[in-house]
Amino acid sequence: MPAFTSHIFVCCNTREPGHSRGCCNPDGSEALRNCFVAELKKRNLGPLVRANRSGCLDQCEYGPTVVIYPQQIWYGGVRLEDVPRIIDETIIGGRVIADLVIADQCLNTKGQVRRPGT
Ligand code: FES
Repeated sequence: MPAFTSHIFVCCNTREPGHSRGCCNPDGSEALRNCFVAELKKRNLGPLVRANRSGCLDQCEYGPTVVIYPQQIWYGGVRLEDVPRIIDETIIGGRVIADLVIADQCLNTKGQVRRPGT
């Protein structure tokens, strides 16, 4: 049995209001990461799936940003209400959610390439 099946890294970086790149955790509450932890617990997915806070993942323009390893799935614009479907559809179901994914061609462009559908 693997030690982990998925690690969900949730950007909890906070920057001052008005920063040109924005940030994923503007109120400092880490609400998104806490929501992942709670939803994983509800589904009894620990310890194989973990949700960890991360610093800036450098995809700020697409934030709030989440990356799932080892699947290497990047999600952007993640809202609290998206958390249950990320767990159910991606973590459990193995499917990428089209309206949340940050496509490879968008990564590391500092927002120069728009996410499809946004
Ligand atoms: S502040 Fe979240 S990716 Fe940079």
